[in-house]
Amino acid sequence: MLIPQLLKEDGVYNLYVDGKPYIALAGEIHNSSSSGLKYMEGKVWPYLKGLNLNTVILPIYWELIEPEQGEFDFHLLEGLIEQARHENVRLVLLWFGLWKNGNSTYVPGWVKRDYKTYFRAVNERNEPLNTISPLCRSAVEADANAFIRFMTHLKKIDGDQHTVIMVQVENEVGLLGSDRDYSEYANAEFNRPIPTVIESCYNTSGTWEEAFAENAAEYFMAYQYARAVEEIASAGSKIYPLPLFVNAWLEQFPWRPGTYPSGGPIAKVMKLWKAAAPTICLYAPDIYLPKFTEICEEYTANNENPLFIPEARRDVVSATNVFYALGKHDALCFAPFGIEDLLTPPSDEGGGIDMNVLMALNIDMSSFNTNGTGKYLAKSYELLGNMLGVIQKYRGTGKMTGFLKNNDRGCTLSFSKYDLKVSYKFSKEGQPVSGGLVIEVSDHEFILAGIGFSVEFLPKRGDKSKVSFIRIEEGKFVKDEWVRDRVLNGDEAGYSLGIGHNPAVLRMEMYKYQ
Ligand code: DGJ
Repeated sequence: MLIPQLLKEDGVYNLYVDGKPYIALAGEIHNSSSSGLKYMEGKVWPYLKGLNLNTVILPIYWELIEPEQGEFDFHLLEGLIEQARHENVRLVLLWFGLWKNGNSTYVPGWVKRDYKTYFRAVNERNEPLNTISPLCRSAVEADANAFIRFMTHLKKIDGDQHTVIMVQVENEVGLLGSDRDYSEYANAEFNRPIPTVIESCYNTSGTWEEAFAENAAEYFMAYQYARAVEEIASAGSKIYPLPLFVNAWLEQFPWRPGTYPSGGPIAKVMKLWKAAAPTICLYAPDIYLPKFTEICEEYTANNENPLFIPEARRDVVSATNVFYALGKHDALCFAPFGIEDLLTPPSDEGGGIDMNVLMALNIDMSSFNTNGTGKYLAKSYELLGNMLGVIQKYRGTGKMTGFLKNNDRGCTLSFSKYDLKVSYKFSKEGQPVSGGLVIEVSDHEFILAGIGFSVEFLPKRGDKSKVSFIRIEEGKFVKDEWVRDRVLNGDEAGYSLGIGHNPAVLRMEMYKYQ
């Protein structure tokens, strides 16, 4: 079987798994859940069953893989893969190596204790940070060595079956607590001329300050992290070339590098990262902020990066956001974070998250409100999971789009023979907001899927025809085949023709008359 790969074909990003295009309807589990196989059996897998996921995103930890220097233990990796096969889902693994949310908390004890060899970044006051410096050669080499061993073992146990389809290298890298490393060593590098790869990428020259002025610290750190990640990723990729990606803690208020991880792959420095880390196949935003549409736009600008969301907020908007991400931006993955909580009864809650942690991570509290999310997301995933082949067929054709309520009341979408007026329904607390996707199957036929909206087809501007429907069908896709239920040509097709607060899909054939 072919190794999973990400290709850009005629301008469309396709992720191939076992030779077929793949879209991940996923969820990421809490940071510590996959450190215990028993915990996974009791507290995670049972609550993922009802969510209709095809992919689970979970961490794998350097400290548990190489507890003593040079001694490797892969029983956890083997057990997780076995469990995933049993549950019939694919895995995306997160390599928690040198950096996790900017910090170096997942490195093995022998690395932590030897802080002279594996030295830390320091702030302007020369105080050490809890982050091993990306300029520390010994640390990057040690991580790369462990990553090679991990990829070697992964290839051995999964090289035929491909339960693991992708690996994220590190997690939300960047420096927290300072805009750059101010160690003597880093200062010397900072005052050198920028590397030629950055010179040609930005068509500039001189020192970092001369080239990037007030952004110098952040761009310098971006280069240092990208180079370190490239060294680790390329070492593993030579052994087993799975698609490797990185994720970003997004730039946000108070907008200063160091309050979000400085040098991490935020959209602004993606160009630099691409030049310095060619092994990385995509840049993934972790979206907890409310401005979902803007972030999707940013990360897909100029079609230079596919949309892949390994962490999304887990309040009820998730159930709608997934339609928008797939319909409008051809997303390859959508995954709310802490997915095991969504269907877990409060009495059985385990490794959740404390609100103080969210404050420290600058995460909007409302994004962690799971009230109602599980039941709606399960329906969205069930519906979409049965039409992934249909969605795949229309990705990149210009015949599929998406919409999502922001602060507006509706939108108008333009198709070849009609305009489509979409009006958003009012949603109560605990109900998903309005949004969906539309596919123009032919000039007169449409598929509409989503939540909470009504529609009206209009003639194009200047066209004097009247518009009406041949028929409107309610139904669902089953393994990409349309199975109709009611035909809605009566009262239901009147003014409020559309979809209520439960995820649903309609097929319509329209016509014009004069
Ligand atoms: C983003 C990180 O990438 C995750 O590992 C996790 O820490 C969440 N934030 C918040 O729980």
